[in-house]
Amino acid sequence: MKKVLVMASGFGSNFEAIVEYFKNKDVCIELLSDKNNAYVLKRAKRLGIKSYIIPFNETSNFFLKHKFNLVVLAGYMRILPKEVLNLAEFINIHPSLLPKYKGLNAIKRAFMSGEKVSGITIHYVNEEVDCGEIIFQAECKIEPDMTLEEFEEQIHFLEHMHLPRVIEELIK
Ligand code: GAR
Repeated sequence: MKKVLVMASGFGSNFEAIVEYFKNKDVCIELLSDKNNAYVLKRAKRLGIKSYIIPFNETSNFFLKHKFNLVVLAGYMRILPKEVLNLAEFINIHPSLLPKYKGLNAIKRAFMSGEKVSGITIHYVNEEVDCGEIIFQAECKIEPDMTLEEFEEQIHFLEHMHLPRVIEELIK
């Protein structure tokens, strides 16, 4: 059975979308959070998914002991060093059309900058923030009468729709 680890530090809506997508498929999903009070851990408990709470400085040890076919950063808000990246294949989801709006608060920054189009990017992870080779992008329009909340909803809709499908392709 293929094993996928999702790494998340916060809310975990992408984690839940991934778990739902693979529910009746032959793929094992597990969760790693660096924060012991992250809401995503509650989701994992409710969904019956095994979770690990691993402080950032113990990440490398964790990957020496546990092996996965793919590791998915979905709202994991830390930069992984090369010694960790060498231990598995890592992808990341980011809520902008990279290379635009790397880093924090990308949705809000794209919106406030008056962009007419933004979107999401799924990419391989390297040591630079939001920088590795792009695997997939999807666009959405920012209509003139759209609120930030409506735009955020669109972005998350795209993330939840595409990320599980891309994971499935990559582990085939
Ligand atoms: C997602 O929008 C993801 O693209 C973003 O964090 C959010 C996590 O949401 N990641 C980054 O900004 C990485 N630079 P979630 O916890 O509800 O899945």
